[in-house]
Amino acid sequence: MLRDFPLEKAYQLLEPGPVVFLTTIHRGQANIMTMSWHMMVEFAPPRIACVVSAANFSFQALRQTRQCVIAIPSADLVSTVVAIGNCSGRDVDKFAAFGLTQLAAGYVASPLIAECFSNLECKVIDTRMVKKYNIFIMEAVKVWINHKHVNCKTVHHQGYGRFVVDGKTVILKSTKP
Ligand SMILES: Cc1cc2nc3c(=O)[nH]c(=O)nc-3n(C[C@H](O)[C@H](O)[C@H](O)COP(=O)(O)O)c2cc1C
Repeated sequence: MLRDFPLEKAYQLLEPGPVVFLTTIHRGQANIMTMSWHMMVEFAPPRIACVVSAANFSFQALRQTRQCVIAIPSADLVSTVVAIGNCSGRDVDKFAAFGLTQLAAGYVASPLIAECFSNLECKVIDTRMVKKYNIFIMEAVKVWINHKHVNCKTVHHQGYGRFVVDGKTVILKSTKP
């Protein structure tokens, strides 16, 4: 009945939160990367643990500026999500190449993305796990929702170009947030 499942594919079973964009600005260059390895670690203030590989151009920007924007795209941007996650800001101006619009944030220099339905302005508050795990702990200091995008669906990554689009919403009684 039970079959062996490769350890290196375990991440595909523990489906992470929505695939997001992470924007940074460093030495005048705004950049975007795609990120699916993130998790909430505190309700209020909202804190998020994010894995940003040291191989990514975004890593240096994040480490040096200690700020970013986490922008949440809806399913209609899924092709852009993949394209942005398969090239580097070292070689490409991704805002220009993928036709995304930068908006000024309130508390960080990193740009918001106008086409995304939500943008979280974040400051890096803890880098103690960066050396070992490439994990940055961020705190969201401002959250924006675009009310023009109603009922939009997020996308969730299952590996190798396979995504799940959010389905039906179920609302149950709960005393927990
Ligand atoms: C669906 C998807 C999810 C990704 N998730 C992550 C992630 O969580 N962390 C990470 O470091 N890279 C992730 N990547 C890879 C980066 O987005 C990719 O390396 C990107 O080219 C980095 O851009 P940069 O060099 O401009 O920073 C993901 C890519 C895709 C397509």
